[in-house]
Amino acid sequence: MKPNQQLETSKKNQIQNMFNAISIEYDFLNKLITFGNDIKWRKKVYTIAKENSPKNILDIATGTGDIALELANIEGAKIIGLDISEKMLEIGKKKITNQNLSDKIDLALGDAENLSYSNGSFDIITIGFGVRNFQNLIKGLNESKRVLKENGKLIILESSVPKNYIIKFFYLLLSRAYVPFLGLVFSKDKSAYRYLQKSAETFPSGHAFVEILKNCGFKNILTQRQMFGAVSIYIAEKQS
Ligand SMILES: C[S@@+](CC[C@H](N)C(=O)[O-])C[C@H]1O[C@@H](n2cnc3c(N)ncnc32)[C@H](O)[C@@H]1O
Repeated sequence: MKPNQQLETSKKNQIQNMFNAISIEYDFLNKLITFGNDIKWRKKVYTIAKENSPKNILDIATGTGDIALELANIEGAKIIGLDISEKMLEIGKKKITNQNLSDKIDLALGDAENLSYSNGSFDIITIGFGVRNFQNLIKGLNESKRVLKENGKLIILESSVPKNYIIKFFYLLLSRAYVPFLGLVFSKDKSAYRYLQKSAETFPSGHAFVEILKNCGFKNILTQRQMFGAVSIYIAEKQS
């Protein structure tokens, strides 16, 4: 789905404008939306990535760079954080400079669906809350696979919908009221938070997303559900 169905502009263009518009408040509102659990989830992504002792990591849809910053704790790893929103990257760049991590993390403006890197460039690719914003999900996943090394891992952190009916009922009640409410109170772009909530609800999750990864040719796919299934971490390998 697009942030604004009435506009004829492409989803990519709308997403880029939307994240440029909400970049200043993004980190603060992200904490409120996730009840501060985002820190814990990023640490899990870091722990999974570290297992492979990666040297080259690409963090796609890096936004303000929080996953890239966490990955910088992996000894000997170099991280590229890529995003289509220059305003999100501007905030990320400030954090990296403040933490003296410019020699470990490089932030680059670029599109997940048209990566400029050669085949087999990265040991690990991470994508945090990014895939549901891709214009062409399959193209984005195939590009990730292309630039991953053989046996490399793709780690995706994404919103999902709880399976249990009772938990799902409370999840929908909370997210349909709480996320748009936060947007209404704290943001100039209220429609952005309606889109973020709706896209989280409608994006394929769990088994459906695993099937998509399988169809793209990924192997050994694991799912780790977080916060009663409101968020999932998918780990998929590139193997011929
Ligand atoms: C919800 S933010 C997630 C930021 C960060 N990964 C995090 O976990 O907080 C989603 C990001 O995906 C980026 N994005 C969406 N489509 C993209 C694409 N095709 N290529 C690169 N970045 C993209 C947006 O610009 C935005 O910064």
